[in-house]
Amino acid sequence: MTKPKVFVSRVIPEEGLASVRDATDATIWPDDLPPSRADLLRSVEGCDGVLTLLTDKVDDEFLDRAGLQLKVVSNFAVGFDNIDVAACTKRGIPVGNTPGVLTETTADLAWTLLMAAARRVVEGDRYVRDGKWKTWGPMLLMGPDVHGATLGIVGFGRIGQAVARRAKGFGMRILYHDPRRVSPAVEAEYGAEYRTLEGILPESDFLTLHVDLRPETRGLINAERLGWMKQTAVLVNTSRGPVVDSMALAEALKSGVIGAAALDVTDPEPIPVDHPLVGLDNCLIVPHIASASRATRGKMAEMAAANLLAGIRGQRLPTPVNPEVYDRR
Ligand code: DGY
Repeated sequence: MTKPKVFVSRVIPEEGLASVRDATDATIWPDDLPPSRADLLRSVEGCDGVLTLLTDKVDDEFLDRAGLQLKVVSNFAVGFDNIDVAACTKRGIPVGNTPGVLTETTADLAWTLLMAAARRVVEGDRYVRDGKWKTWGPMLLMGPDVHGATLGIVGFGRIGQAVARRAKGFGMRILYHDPRRVSPAVEAEYGAEYRTLEGILPESDFLTLHVDLRPETRGLINAERLGWMKQTAVLVNTSRGPVVDSMALAEALKSGVIGAAALDVTDPEPIPVDHPLVGLDNCLIVPHIASASRATRGKMAEMAAANLLAGIRGQRLPTPVNPEVYDRR
């Protein structure tokens, strides 16, 4: 019996890849770098299922090239802004993502970035390696306290709340902003106070972003809003790069409008080394690694494989992002 044809757009952990290889006729893109657009389109032709990454754009052109037999798009990420979900839904194609399993790991990295930026860990390491450490310095590499400070959380979903749990352990005052206010019970659990976006910015010593990338969140933190923040504020972004206007942030960091930034995500991504943000000591940047613990990436691979295999078998995906496709069947 011929096996269903699938394309996996990068090597993912064996926890998911093994079952995909067993059950399907899989082509797995072997390079560290993603397939070019032309290679991607060529590779998905005639596939029953595709396992995509956030670096792959899934749009009408992609779906046309894949063909009418395509039964599922399974994204190896919780975010799915790389996918035109409406276009998939219109064609009755379920889209899967990997929610839940990366919540704590992502919150860990947001916390790491917050602490590292506040206490200038990366600058300190560079200082030592550059041979600049000559003595104990009373004024050397001072930064703000984390404990007892006010943390603003923009996007109070699973990850935002996981960050709040960490902040509670540091005795922080917690403010949050979200389009949907959480229940009084959840607010009480974290001791979190609701604020409008305009309200949260001037009060926060640290501001951490946990929103999806949508038209309403693109450029959410722009020059004007950076101007509302404290001059000492630290901005942490582990959501999506375009939520922050990169050029406005570079300007704000350079001119002392805010104190520091720590970014796991950038716009553009990857960020070129000659980008103004890269040259700034008060901007810490890591390469979109928030979910990159071995255990979490293994679980993401399992979930992405489970979605893919369910889809090609015509079963309901365990975690569909467009469950409405099933209503029409
Ligand atoms: C996601 O899952 O959306 C992250 O950005 C990568 O793990």
